[in-house]
Formats: sequence, structure tokens, C-alpha cells
Amino acid sequence: MVLHETNSPFRQDQAELLNKLLPTLTDGQRIWLSGYLAAAATVPAPVAVQASAALAEAQPAAPAAPALPKEATVLYGSQTGNSKKLANRLAERLKGAGYEAAVSAMNDFKPNTLKKVTRLFIVVSTHGEGDPPDNALGFYEFLHSKRAPQLDGMPFAVLALGDTSYEKFCQTGKDFDKRLEELGGKRIAPRVDCDVDFEDAASGWIDSVLAALASEEAASASASASASAAGAVPAGAGAAAVAAAVSAAAPAAVPYSRSNPFRAAVLENLNLNGRGSARETRHLELSLEGSGLTYEPGDALGIYPENQPQLVEELIETAGWRADEPVPAGKDGGELPLGEALSRHYEITLLTRPLLQQVAELTGSPKLKELTAPGQEQALREYIAGRDLVDLIRGFDLKGVPAKTFVPLLRKLPPRLYSIASSPKAYPDEAHLTIRKVVYESHGRTRYGVCSTYVAERAEPGSEIPVYVQHNENFRLPSDPDTPIIMIGPGTGVAPFRAFLGERQETGASGKTWLFYGDQHFLTDFLYQVEWQRWLKEGVLTRMDVAFSRDQEQKIYVQHRMLEKAKELYAWLEEGAVVYVCGDKSRMAHDVHAALTTIIRREGGLSEEAAAEYLKRMQQERRYQRDVY
Ligand SMILES: Cc1cc2nc3c(=O)[nH]c(=O)nc-3n(C[C@H](O)[C@H](O)[C@H](O)COP(=O)(O)OP(=O)(O)OC[C@H]3O[C@@H](n4cnc5c(N)ncnc54)[C@H](O)[C@@H]3O)c2cc1C
Ligand SMILES: Cc1cc2nc3c(=O)[nH]c(=O)nc-3n(C[C@H](O)[C@H](O)[C@H](O)COP(=O)(O)O)c2cc1C
Repeated sequence: MVLHETNSPFRQDQAELLNKLLPTLTDGQRIWLSGYLAAAATVPAPVAVQASAALAEAQPAAPAAPALPKEATVLYGSQTGNSKKLANRLAERLKGAGYEAAVSAMNDFKPNTLKKVTRLFIVVSTHGEGDPPDNALGFYEFLHSKRAPQLDGMPFAVLALGDTSYEKFCQTGKDFDKRLEELGGKRIAPRVDCDVDFEDAASGWIDSVLAALASEEAASASASASASAAGAVPAGAGAAAVAAAVSAAAPAAVPYSRSNPFRAAVLENLNLNGRGSARETRHLELSLEGSGLTYEPGDALGIYPENQPQLVEELIETAGWRADEPVPAGKDGGELPLGEALSRHYEITLLTRPLLQQVAELTGSPKLKELTAPGQEQALREYIAGRDLVDLIRGFDLKGVPAKTFVPLLRKLPPRLYSIASSPKAYPDEAHLTIRKVVYESHGRTRYGVCSTYVAERAEPGSEIPVYVQHNENFRLPSDPDTPIIMIGPGTGVAPFRAFLGERQETGASGKTWLFYGDQHFLTDFLYQVEWQRWLKEGVLTRMDVAFSRDQEQKIYVQHRMLEKAKELYAWLEEGAVVYVCGDKSRMAHDVHAALTTIIRREGGLSEEAAAEYLKRMQQERRYQRDVY
């Protein structure tokens, strides 16, 4: 990760020095340094100053703080599973270092036990527009309320997951980090804000947490062993030894995962929309045979796409590069021909603020420096929207900047997630997806969504695409098969419900099921129509209400159908139904939420606040689950 002002606590000049130094360090040197810095942060300030002045000199012993029990609590807030996976990885590393580590989702943690926690590690992503993930909401609100306890020096550290293309980058992690400090917690390792390509930064943070703990141990051991500093080992070195031992215990087996995707064969790739539709939605069937990958209805599949060949060509030509010139690609420091690197490794369709700042530095372009200067945030936001690298190179006359220096500034091409649309019981060893092709006009050019276009145009049956399973514990069928379910999924939001109903058919679940579906036109856009009708006939689907927005003058959406059926819908809620919402987050999720509140208020005779409370309770009881994007 390249450090700069916006993704680290350093000034630009400090970040530049670190960017020069860090890549030259060996693993051993990095571990030693993180241990040393963590130790410096844990001893009182004057000692830390001496330590940096004369590293090898004997130090006066720090006052022996009572050693804390070797316990740690790891809490995660995660929507799509990344933070959860990293929290579990941290917990494993802590256990390997002899800690009793409890790991849980924030909404499974009892906030009133926070005071009893010995050490707290938080791994949390940001969603919505800078909002906490659903399973972090309750704990987030608690911690920011007056009920939050004073933490009296409780050691903590925060890992924040996010995406630099969002305005509120890693906002939730930043909020937690700040709040824990305000409450009196002691930060033992600096917060790390991860971009979509989070593996290296997250591993670095986990190493730094372990190194900090190791130095804490070394400091308290040396302080209690001797009141004299004579012969004391610099705390960082002690930490290095422990951290190195911990690192050595890392697991070796490599199952298929986000960082080791499986090449799944494409079995089928059909357009679900009829002739004349404004949409193109692909039904993709993939073989997972031999992968060992398993999933449950509600999970998603991640796809590593390739950029569109025409766009790669256009970029190379615009920049004056050559497709066969070698450029760095991949973290092992290897090189690839530029054309291949731009196709498979780098993001070329999106501009981010950190990228523009780095390009301004690299090229010295006065116009770009002006646009990225402090105070120009609004202008920068407007420039970035709907533009790509070709626009940047053209707009700022950057033709001729060497590919070798420019290309490594680009973000790694991130995978895209798709709700799995099949039940593994109905289709063993397969995963089906429902992918809508993204195409739009912007600044005079037609733009194509990277992954949806890759699937629509180039994932031919017989070819292979790199995938992994992203589990989602927050979108699950109820464990009791008698529980009624209400599924609201317009457009591609319907995908997981094909998996839910397939599963309910296979397991013979008896609970009632209700689907709200919508799109533009009945004739061309009724995805999986035949299957819903078959399930209706067979009783797997109890009810279906559809809203085709453009088949009449007045736009009708799923929320209108819900309001029309308010009485029955409320009765289902009172019977304990679980509500699932999947699909568009920007408008649909909000409108459906508002419709549910109205239904509960009207039919339950409740105030606005009481209706909101009803929904909140449903959320806490996992009876209101959303998977929106
Ligand atoms: C958990 C989860 C599940 C998902 N499930 C599905 C699914 O089942 N089916 C599905 O199709 N998608 C699904 N998605 C969305 C999917 O991951 C991708 O975001 C989507 O396919 C677009 O990816 P892309 O690479 O084609 O487009 P990208 O290259 O990522 O481009 C998309 C971006 O283009 C911009 N854009 C798009 N339209 C316009 C416009 N009209 N004007 C201006 N800018 C615009 C927006 O910034 C948008 O974010 C899911 C997402 C998540 C997080
Ligand atoms: C719908 C959606 C909204 C997002 N909003 C933000 C955001 O506002 N800020 C941010 O930094 N990242 C945002 N992200 C990026 C996620 O935080 C990032 O993908 C992270 O790795 C997800 O981790 P998780 O799987 O633990 O939820 C968003 C992602 C999605 C899918």
C-alpha cells in the first residue's frame, strides 16, 4: 500500500520518506520495527524519547504495570464477510500466541459486558454512505451513547475496511477508533484503513497488533524481573522474537478463497430479458466441481473480472504506451506485458482522490495539483464522477508519462460480488448468478461496467472465470422451516430468492412464502417467471405480488404493492415472518423500509417512533435482513 496523507496519519513529507523506506525492509526488519514502535508507544513518554535517541543503550525500567490476563475480545462488523474473515484470522493468531480470544459479531456481543473486556480489537467495514454494517449498528449506537462506559486504559486497536472510491472512506472504523480513545481506551496499534485490496494492509495490522502485545508482555516481564535497566533488551527486540515466533506458526493449507480464487467453468450463459428490453440480465451457471467450495442460500460469489479489451487498447493509445512493454504487476514484484496487466490486474475505469493526488505528484501537472489541493474537494468530486483513466490522461495532457511509473499507482482490480441464485441442494456443485449488464453514457462516451460486461460479452460456456464464495451470515433462511418468509427483491435483487425457494423445495419446508418482485416491463423483464409460476403451483411459493413500473402511466414499484397488501403483510409480521430485502440500495431499500414502517404504524396503530422501534427489534432478532448494493 502506498502511504499518503489521506490513508495514513502522516504528513505528505513523512509519507514519502516511509514509502521510500518500507519497500526496502525485510520481513524480519518489519516485524522488529513494529515491535519497537509499539513498545515505544507503551512506555511512558520520556523513556520513549530516550529509546529513540540511543537504541542500544540500557533503559530505566518502566514502572511495573500489573500484567493483564492473556485475554482478548475481537468484534467485527461486516456486511459481506470480509471483516468477519479478518477478525477470525486475528483471533487465530491471538490463540497461537497463547491468548484466550473470543470473536463475535458486534450484534452478538452484550454491550453491558464491555467493561469486563481485557483488550478489544475491532474489525469493521463501512457501508451505505459511510454507515456501519447492519450487524454493527447496535454496538455503534451504544458506544456513541451516554451509556457507554469509561474504558480506563483498556488496550484496543481498530482495523477499518472500506473503499477509497467512496466519499466516506472507512468512516465507521474511524468513528470506532476515535470513540474508543475518547472513552479512555489505550490504542496499542495504529488504525489501518484498508482499500478494496485489503489483504496486505490487514496482514500488516494483525502483525502490528501481535507485535504490540508481545512488547507489552516483554515490557511487563522485564519490569517485573528486575528493577534495574542493566542488560535490558530493547522492548522492540523482545517483541520481534515473540512476533517472529507467532508469524512462523501461520497455517500452510490454501483452500480456494478470495486470495486464491477457483477457476470455475461456465456451463450456461443466457440473457433473461426478452427482445426489446432496455435491460440485459445474464443467467450464469458455473461449475464448482472439484473446488471444495460450499455455500448456503444467501451467500454471494465473488468474480475477478477482466477489463474490456477495447478500453485497454484505447487507454494504451491515449497514453502513448506499448501493449508489450513490461510493467510491475502483482505483489511478488514480477512484471507483465502492459496489455495483460491492464486487462487483469489494474482498475482503469474509476478515478479516486488518492490516485489523482499521486498522479499530480508524479507528473507535476499544475492543473491536476490545483484540482487536488486542499479546499478543492467539491471540484474534485465533480471531476471524478463518471470519468475514467482515459479522461484523466486526455484532460490533463498526460500522454507520454512512462507506464512503468504510472501503472503501479493504480488500484488492483477488485472482485465483484453476486448473490448466488441457486440452492446447492437443488444444483450440487453448481452456482447460478443473475448479473445485469451495466452500460451508461457519461461525458460523451459509453461506459461499461467492468464485471457485468465481462460476463455478458466474454464468459462463454466452456471458458473459466476466477471465483470465490463470500459467506453472508446476515442473510439466512430461518432455522425453523415453519417460519413464514417475505422476500422483497426487484430486479437482480430476486437472485437469492431463487436460492431460498429452491432450498425450501428440497428440504420440504412448510413455512409460508411471499415474493414481491418488480422491474420495468412484464413482457420482457420478468426474470425467472416460469420458475416462480411453477413454485406457486407446487405451493413452494405461497403468494407473489409483482410491480412492473413502466407498463402503465403511473410508476408502480414493489413498495406500492406492499402498501396495497398492508393488512395481510402486517398479519404475517405478527405471525413471526422474516422479511428479506435484496437489490438496489440507493432508492429501493429506502422506499421499502419506509413502506414497512408505514404498514407497521397503520396496521399496528403505533406511533412513528414505535413503528421504527418495531422494525429495529425485528432487525436485532434477525427477522429483517437486507442485502442491498
Ligand atoms: C453483496 C452483493 C450482491 C450483489 N448481487 C448482485 C446480483 O445478484 N446481480 C447483479 O447484477 N449485481 C449484484 N451486485 C452488484 C455487483 O457486485 C456489481 O456492483 C455490478 O455488477 C456492477 O459491477 P460492474 O463491474 O459491472 O460495474 P463497475 O465497473 O463496477 O461500474 C459500476 C459503477 O458505475 C457507475 N454507474 C453505473 N451506472 C451509472 C449511470 N447510469 N450513471 C453514472 N454512473 C453509473 C456507478 O459508480 C457504479 O458503481 C451485488 C453487490 C453486492 C455488494
Ligand atoms: C453497498 C456498499 C456500500 C459501501 N459504502 C462504503 C463507504 O461509504 N465507505 C467505504 O469506505 N467503503 C464502502 N464500501 C466498501 C466496503 O466497506 C468494502 O467492500 C469492505 O471490504 C466490505 O467489508 P465487509 O465484507 O466486512 O462488509 C461499500 C461497499 C458496498 C457493497
